[in-house]
Amino acid sequence: MKQTSDYQCDALIIGSGAAGLTLALQLADHTQVIVLSKGPLTEGATYYAQGGIAAVFDENDSIESHIEDTLIAGAGLCDPRAVEFTTRQAKECLQWLIQLGVNFDQEANSNGETRYHLNQEGGHSHRRILHAADATGRVVETTLVDQVRRHPNIRLFERYNAVDLITHRHINAEPGCYGAYIWNRRAERVETVSARFVALATGGASKVYQYTSNPDVASGDGIAMAWRAGCQVENMEFNQFHPTCLFHPKAHTFLLTEALRGEGAVLKRPDGSRFMPEFHPDAELAPRDIVARAIDYEMKRLGANCMYLDISHQSEDFIRKHFPTIYDKCLSLGIDISREPMPVVPAAHYTCGGVKTDLRARTTLPGLYAIGEVACTGLHGANRMASNSLLECVVFARAAATDISEQLAGVSLRQDLPAWDESKVINSDEEVVIQHNWHELRLFMWDYVGIVRTSKRLQRALNRIELLQQEIHEYYSNFRVSNDLLELRNLVQVAELIVRSAMQRKESRGLHYNLDYPQTVKPAQSTVLTPKAK
Ligand code: FAD
Ligand code: SIN
Repeated sequence: MKQTSDYQCDALIIGSGAAGLTLALQLADHTQVIVLSKGPLTEGATYYAQGGIAAVFDENDSIESHIEDTLIAGAGLCDPRAVEFTTRQAKECLQWLIQLGVNFDQEANSNGETRYHLNQEGGHSHRRILHAADATGRVVETTLVDQVRRHPNIRLFERYNAVDLITHRHINAEPGCYGAYIWNRRAERVETVSARFVALATGGASKVYQYTSNPDVASGDGIAMAWRAGCQVENMEFNQFHPTCLFHPKAHTFLLTEALRGEGAVLKRPDGSRFMPEFHPDAELAPRDIVARAIDYEMKRLGANCMYLDISHQSEDFIRKHFPTIYDKCLSLGIDISREPMPVVPAAHYTCGGVKTDLRARTTLPGLYAIGEVACTGLHGANRMASNSLLECVVFARAAATDISEQLAGVSLRQDLPAWDESKVINSDEEVVIQHNWHELRLFMWDYVGIVRTSKRLQRALNRIELLQQEIHEYYSNFRVSNDLLELRNLVQVAELIVRSAMQRKESRGLHYNLDYPQTVKPAQSTVLTPKAK
């Protein structure tokens, strides 16, 4: 039969962060792999991670305690099996990264023995976060990139956007995923990849909000593609807002790691008074949703643009050793954090919900896996605990690799994928429509579907989303694709899933806080949305 696909492989991995590259390395010794990234290979949330990766390394700590802390942060909605599965593999996963060459910070203890230095972050009852100063993600990502670049079985496609998954709806076949349409940005054409297995490792969707700690690639593409392909999504209403992003016109929501608060940094009002003890017994180290809501509350109450984070009780030497990136960044903006507080605001940081998977990272569509932030594995429940997400990336990438390897012999490549049809589209003549809709969407999501919600605001957001969807659909059907158009189409889809999930939840829990339903209702239940059959 005539081959219609431009490329063939055993495993197509869409995304090159911690999740995608771990999966690629785990598979590559016995499979042919293609990895896609929308921008340069390193560009994704992984590269910007600061605090570190949680695992039990201290003899006074225990896996049971890591489990308990994760369950408490998750506000009754974690899947205990996913929590147990992840925490029990944490140390082994960290050791794998160390073997690859990731240099986590070490220090000598009082007996002169060298140990990993462990950070403390909100929700954790022990110091349990391995880190590389305040640039953990950069070290992890560059180590992984270095390894994949050397592997002969891994082909790296940089600056390619996955547009849509190819499923049984495109060909006469059993329900399943058989490849993807990908937009080659340099050639400006849509190409076809035929794959025995496809893994979404596309990261989160925090760019749906006007203010975010995330890089531009975080536009929820994987969640939107999976939804269009017929997969279930879960718990999309739980969007985590990081409490402390730097508030400065030139900072572009630069993150100020929670590890600062782990080292005693305190949150202050503009008048210098501390406020977190009024909100929670753990004060600055309360779970993230509580700290973010407290900052939001104080800002609104006082009509202030920001609150302040103060670590000036620590010495300059200490700060420069543990937080060199933050120290340098703030100094470049004229803020000496060893002497003065940092202006902070919350910003959208992490997508707790996503494509529903099981413990082998399988989605509800055969042949399709979802790993990392794009997935909802059950680990995070209603609120992710700090530094559990890079861990989840590695744990579930390994689980996917095991499952794919076990099934490889029984699955063959499809040779009959239809080519992309461009016969009815023309070049866009009004880019302003995309730009306008893009800004409008992110602004009303921030205002109406942010840290504090009401039923009326959610309905307002849904009305606007429906209008935008009509316009964008029309645009997408008539014009050639571009990065902005593809991302906007996905963002508006994800926005709809967030709002519909939020409207279904008639209570407040974890990251979802609705003034019309302030109570938490028992029993805790996940929100699972299923696409209409086509
Ligand atoms: P990402 O690393 O985001 O990678 C996504 C990849 O998908 C990119 O390669 C992108 O190009 C690609 N992609 C997306 N869409 C497409 C498409 N359509 N076609 C092709 N490619 C596509 N977590 C912790 O555990 N500890 C921390 O200390 C920590 N600090 C953080 C600090 C910051 C500033 C941020 C933003 C997040 C932090 N997190 C932290 C969260 C954590 O970094 C992310 O959850 C995690 O890195 C996600 O990894 P990933 O592999 O799923 O996706
Ligand atoms: C941080 O360093 O504060 C971010 C940690 C995380 O998001 O897990």
